Amino acid sequence: MCDCGENAHTKPIRLIAAACNNMGIGKNGYLPWNLPSEFTFFLDTISSVSTPGMKNLLVWGRKCWEAFPESLLPLPNTMHVILSRTLSSVPKHAQYLCSDLQGSVKLGSTHPLSEVIETIWIIGGVEPYIEALQHPWCDLVYLTDVQADFECDTYFPEFNNNVYKLVDEFPGVPSGIQEENGIKFKYQVFKKVAQ
Ligand SMILES: NC(=O)c1ccc[n+]([C@@H]2O[C@H](COP(=O)([O-])OP(=O)(O)OC[C@H]3O[C@@H](n4cnc5c(N)ncnc54)[C@H](OP(=O)(O)O)[C@@H]3O)[C@@H](O)[C@H]2O)c1
Repeated sequence: MCDCGENAHTKPIRLIAAACNNMGIGKNGYLPWNLPSEFTFFLDTISSVSTPGMKNLLVWGRKCWEAFPESLLPLPNTMHVILSRTLSSVPKHAQYLCSDLQGSVKLGSTHPLSEVIETIWIIGGVEPYIEALQHPWCDLVYLTDVQADFECDTYFPEFNNNVYKLVDEFPGVPSGIQEENGIKFKYQVFKKVAQ
């Protein structure tokens, strides 16, 4: 169960990532590939809200945040919480610092942020993904299948395909095989089934 307290307002928690053939997601702190349209899809997805005025709370591991291009900030419709056990102040362009994932969920689901937060997006890396996959409010995993081999040092965690099932089509998600820079990839959404 979530220990966000009795005043918590349930918010959808969603993961977003792209992984190549060996489930690799990163190399030397960065993405292993250059897929601009996939990156644009990522940006569009995490900054989309269905109700004007609402925002998404983006949860970043410290390394992911540090690798994100500063030139793309601020991102529309978003607030940023950075996870770290070492930082003592909120990084530039971010709004919040938390020492664990549950703290970030509590932040987004209780007053006053709960009034404006639509979705809590988990941007990575590995530890935030692992924890979020176990969270009862996690309903969707956006996981682009990059159909190529890349040398990686960071990997998307294994998850239970009986709990998160691949859906055939999903609103706002292009279907079919995409191709860019000679690399094939496919947008995928896994949806948690009722247990
Ligand atoms: N392909 C994709 O879709 C994708 C997505 C995300 C990331 N990536 C790649 O993955 C790599 C980065 O991921 P990563 O797993 O190495 O690092 P990360 O999660 O971004 O950063 C690790 C740091 O974040 C903090 N942290 C993480 N989880 C925490 C928690 N639960 N509580 C408190 N602090 C926490 C800690 O910071 P302190 O050391 O300050 O305590 C930890 O050392 C990069 O190569 C990136 O490009 C790829």
